[in-house]
Amino acid sequence: MTYPIDTIRAQFPALHKEHHGHAVCHFDGPAGSQVPSSVAQAVSDYLMNCNSNRCAPFSVSQRSDERVEAGHATLAEFVGADEPVEIVFGQNMTSLTLALSRSLGKTWKPGDEIIVTQLDHDANVAPWMLAAEDAGAKVHHIPVNLEDCTLNQTDYRNLLSEKTRLVALGYASNATGTINPIRQMIADAREVGALTFIDAVHMAPHRRLNVTELDCDFLSCSAYKFYGPHIGILYGKRELLESLTPYKLRPSPDEIPGRWMTGTQSHEAICGAKAAVDYLADLGKSINPNAANRSEQLDAAFSAIENYECELTKYLLSRFDELESLKLWGISDRERLAERVPTFSFTHPSKTPHEFAEQLGQQGIYVWPGNHYAFPFTTAAGLEPGGTLRVGLLHYNTIEEIDRLVDSLHPLLQQ
Ligand SMILES: Cc1ncc(COP(=O)(O)O)c(C=O)c1O
Repeated sequence: MTYPIDTIRAQFPALHKEHHGHAVCHFDGPAGSQVPSSVAQAVSDYLMNCNSNRCAPFSVSQRSDERVEAGHATLAEFVGADEPVEIVFGQNMTSLTLALSRSLGKTWKPGDEIIVTQLDHDANVAPWMLAAEDAGAKVHHIPVNLEDCTLNQTDYRNLLSEKTRLVALGYASNATGTINPIRQMIADAREVGALTFIDAVHMAPHRRLNVTELDCDFLSCSAYKFYGPHIGILYGKRELLESLTPYKLRPSPDEIPGRWMTGTQSHEAICGAKAAVDYLADLGKSINPNAANRSEQLDAAFSAIENYECELTKYLLSRFDELESLKLWGISDRERLAERVPTFSFTHPSKTPHEFAEQLGQQGIYVWPGNHYAFPFTTAAGLEPGGTLRVGLLHYNTIEEIDRLVDSLHPLLQQ
């Protein structure tokens, strides 16, 4: 079946907004995707019909409990977890990771070692550095190969030892689009008895997640990157969520997941996150009507998204070949496109990323300048303080939008 791009775009009101007579082009997905109407409706429906704090013995609170529990169950399916209680909601990935790092750090001591990477968003680096500093543990950084923006696997294996307590890996880079070979990297970490934490924030809109297959100990993502509202999600293996000590208030629950969910949650955002997964499952069902359950529907959706995004990637790369003065950071080899998601970082010898983003923004073309908080990478690549110009594609972008971007860049490069 052909990819239903028109049906997809019809569900996203923001994609139809105009800027000075032109439809806007959202290439800012890595900083946050747009939402389908169904997500906005789910948020509104919670607030209109179920708005109450939880666990009270009256009906509106019970409806609120039901919605939140459905959120845990649906997000468990989204990440491939066995049980809804393995899903923790929180303000965003950064806050959840900072909270977990305090608890994990309490189990470390001087002489212990932590491994992070030069290709990660700082939300998967700084929290572990801070916790290691408190514990007197040492932090190693897996270096990035700047030729293709991949992690150096030989160096990684050499860093692993029986002293390693945690390996924190990004699934896909939000700066260069690189997909790291985390399945093997997790297996390597397990061999030395280290725990693994996966930042799947950038991967979640592009590929099907499956924590059970990966056998990672923790995985985080953020619904606002996969068509939901602003809320963070943390998966943890049941035995770890139960055995670690969270920083929590005394009257709050001792059971999982409540012991990790500090304070009152954004119940409406939990409903919106569920609706985002429902949206993706419905897309999968429209593509493969034989998909028997939500998990199979998500498989079908992500398989179609991957193929479509691969076609967009090939087209974008071929059009960007025209723009010789722009340097692309990361994988461009057409034989290696399975190793990347469609997120592209560019630099120019004299014009800054900010100048490009401002001039394109004046035409309603939204691209992002800066380090994207992938600070370890921009530092390693010598790209501070300007960073890169980031063009991020999602499953709702089109060939026509890529044409508009490249056609608008040509005159800017003549200036
Ligand atoms: C790869 C990656 N990790 C972590 C984060 C931080 O996520 P949050 O905004 O939910 O804290 C981002 C946000 O851009 C990201 O792209």
